[in-house]
Amino acid sequence: MTESYPLYRSALITGASAGLGEEFALQLAENCHQIILVARRSDKLHELASELRKRNPNLDVLHFAVDLTNQQEREDFITLLVEHGAQPDLLVNNAGMGDYGEFVQAEWPKLEQMLKLNINALTHLTHALLPKMIESGSGAILNVSSLASILPIPDFAVYAATKAYVTSFTEAIRMELKGTGVNALALCPGPVHTEFGSVAMRDDQQNKIPGKEFFYTPKEQVVAEALDGLVKDRARVYPGWKIGLAAAAISLLPVVAIRLIMGTRPRKLPTDV
Ligand SMILES: NC(=O)c1ccc[n+]([C@@H]2O[C@H](COP(=O)([O-])OP(=O)(O)OC[C@H]3O[C@@H](n4cnc5c(N)ncnc54)[C@H](OP(=O)(O)O)[C@@H]3O)[C@@H](O)[C@H]2O)c1
Repeated sequence: MTESYPLYRSALITGASAGLGEEFALQLAENCHQIILVARRSDKLHELASELRKRNPNLDVLHFAVDLTNQQEREDFITLLVEHGAQPDLLVNNAGMGDYGEFVQAEWPKLEQMLKLNINALTHLTHALLPKMIESGSGAILNVSSLASILPIPDFAVYAATKAYVTSFTEAIRMELKGTGVNALALCPGPVHTEFGSVAMRDDQQNKIPGKEFFYTPKEQVVAEALDGLVKDRARVYPGWKIGLAAAAISLLPVVAIRLIMGTRPRKLPTDV
């Protein structure tokens, strides 16, 4: 148990069946009375729920299989929360996905799914849960964004743009929430080993997304720094010193330099894939 973390009454984590979401659940298990897990794969959520109960026998774990890209499923889920009397005071909007490759060759259904998950679902859940947090005078919204939110990334054009939305949205509501007792934080990791890469790959791509292992941050560290950032009421967290340094360098560069640097990536021509 990490004693410096506050005890949350109820933490809702989206995308809890894998990667960072699963890690959030594991690290929050001893710091909450209730954890609500959401993702599509109910078998994974079930397994995680058992593990969490082992770690904290007093923990109340609820899990819901929801496709968050579907507005009706989101609305039904929000109604179910009310029926269960659940009132999260921590919302971890973590579920997200990417699509790797040139924009023009992307499949529209996958792009649309990404827009709905990374933007609509995150905004909808925040909108649904904030009023009760404000009413009770405490709570937190932790939106999982990305280092990609602060620079345009060829081959991740739509993904980076969705994350620019997440960071901007989080910063803006944070200002609106001043004085309410509710805080908002944008977590902006660099690359992390999770299922993200395999989901982002297109069917015709065999090779890995190019990336330097040096920049990868362990998911345990990403989540620990995010939770610490909540305690310290930080607006943004760039986990790991390498990513922190990269973010500082990016924010100092003029846009002309960003265009030059980002334009020199090894170009994948349609014939290469
Ligand atoms: N990994 C990285 O390098 C990296 C870097 C920066 C930011 N991020 C961000 O970190 C967050 C977590 O990603 P991750 O790396 O942990 O990826 P991940 O391992 O692929 O996990 C994604 C989670 O989202 C859930 N999800 C996907 N589609 C969903 C849907 N339609 N409805 C409900 N849940 C859905 C998945 O569960 P189901 O498949 O069971 O639904 C899974 O639990 C994302 O927002 C991502 O953009 C990741």
